[in-house]
Amino acid sequence: MITVIDFGGQYAHLIARRIRQLGVYAEIKEPTIKAEEIRKTETEGIILSGGPKSVYEKNAFTIDKKLLELGVPVLGICYGHQLIAHLLGGKVVSANKEYGKETLQTGKSELLKGLASREQVWASHGDAVIKLPEGFKTTGSTQECKIAAYENPAKKIYGVQFHPEVQHTTNGMTILQNFVNICGSKRTYSMKGLDKRLIAEIKKQVGRHATIMGVSGGVDSLVASVLIRKATPNIHCVFVDTGLLRKGEKEEVAQLYKELGFEHFTTIDARGLFLSRLKGVTEPEEKRKIIGKAFVEVFEKKVEELKGKHDIRFLGQGTIYPDRIESAKSSGQAAVIKTHHNVGGLPEKMKLLLIEPLKELYKDEVRELGRILGIEKEHLNRHPFPGPGLAVRILREITPEKIKILQEADFIFTEELKKSGYYEKTWQAFAALLDSKAVGVMGDARAYGYIIALRAVTSLDAMTADWARLPNELLEKTANRITKKVKGATRVLYDITQKPPATIEYE
Ligand code: XMP
Repeated sequence: MITVIDFGGQYAHLIARRIRQLGVYAEIKEPTIKAEEIRKTETEGIILSGGPKSVYEKNAFTIDKKLLELGVPVLGICYGHQLIAHLLGGKVVSANKEYGKETLQTGKSELLKGLASREQVWASHGDAVIKLPEGFKTTGSTQECKIAAYENPAKKIYGVQFHPEVQHTTNGMTILQNFVNICGSKRTYSMKGLDKRLIAEIKKQVGRHATIMGVSGGVDSLVASVLIRKATPNIHCVFVDTGLLRKGEKEEVAQLYKELGFEHFTTIDARGLFLSRLKGVTEPEEKRKIIGKAFVEVFEKKVEELKGKHDIRFLGQGTIYPDRIESAKSSGQAAVIKTHHNVGGLPEKMKLLLIEPLKELYKDEVRELGRILGIEKEHLNRHPFPGPGLAVRILREITPEKIKILQEADFIFTEELKKSGYYEKTWQAFAALLDSKAVGVMGDARAYGYIIALRAVTSLDAMTADWARLPNELLEKTANRITKKVKGATRVLYDITQKPPATIEYE
């Protein structure tokens, strides 16, 4: 087993996920854990994660220094890399920031074994180690960061300033594999049997009571509801039509749950409520909060109604790990990036107990679990769609006209992606509507309409993302169709921003 210490970075849980992917069990612990407690576990290696603070800040996280003397290999990543240097007598300072892709020049190293002399890595930091502790040597540098990787082979302590766990560090898995080898861990962990374990847990938790669950048709709520249904047929699925859905979505979702044999499925038409509350609202977080609140109200009303007829005690949710970390619910230390409404204060208010069977998993694990459960590929490969829906893809104020334009444009883009086979090759792709207008010429007349932005990204977990290199012909065809067919749209742009620094959604 490998123990990962979480300093509140966006990626701490992802590190554990990657280690498990390599076939070794990994567990996350708080920085306050003592060396003595770790000694009692079967820890064969320790990874110190990244984190948003600076090691030299007052009250910054630190560790029991004895962790570095346990004799098990230690790998520091980003904050962890800086913390090891700081604790052992090196020097860390505020330095030139690196966000995104960098080129790492590698030297002779146990940790970087098998890598080329130049490697693409993904960095996200503002501090750097500028002096190493005694006994350490530099094994990798980038243009801005001279000590981007170091090691002390005698003590088996290693550090990397970049993130080997993210997909965009091309050979990050080789680095983690090398670390697992250095630890001497056996590769015996697998996802097989996870469905049975989770179903048994849910059965034990809910007993004979009923569960209510908000579903969206997305992969997470789908897999979670199928799991819960296998544990108890007494599940009531509720789908809220917020008026902020994609074209045809409401009908598709109802059909899907019907095909899957769910007996209790209700669609609530709440379009009027959501749109009236969002009228004139322009600030992104305010929009998210309004939607979250309206959602709770609509949902609560339904719960009260169903409670009159059934013994509903539980609320099922398809929350996955990144939802929690991006809403800063994990260690309470990560910065709030966006308020995701699906992790709000729902259960306490409704006096329901929460079932979140997927809360430790990443999207690719959820899809794998869905396959194990026998859900069709077509449903599992659906792109993620945010809870607040098109509201976060229409910049600033939302109006019925803008929703209509965006739905039509998005429909065309999705259709072209599916036809060309690029839907499956991208993590997520959608159209967004900017808050400005541009002049165009249609026929011989002047047109003045909205600007559509197309966004398509590749990613493994939405924690980082790169813009998808779609073929020019596909983009051109989409742009032509949109400007020709969608009344009110005069121009189409393609977004080439990575995450970080951007996010996937617009608001
Ligand atoms: P961002 O925009 O934060 O998105 O880079 C990361 C992933 O999360 C999705 N997303 C949401 N999902 N409720 C959700 O269920 C939300 O409020 C929400 N906001 C963003 C987004 O589509 C992407 O896949």
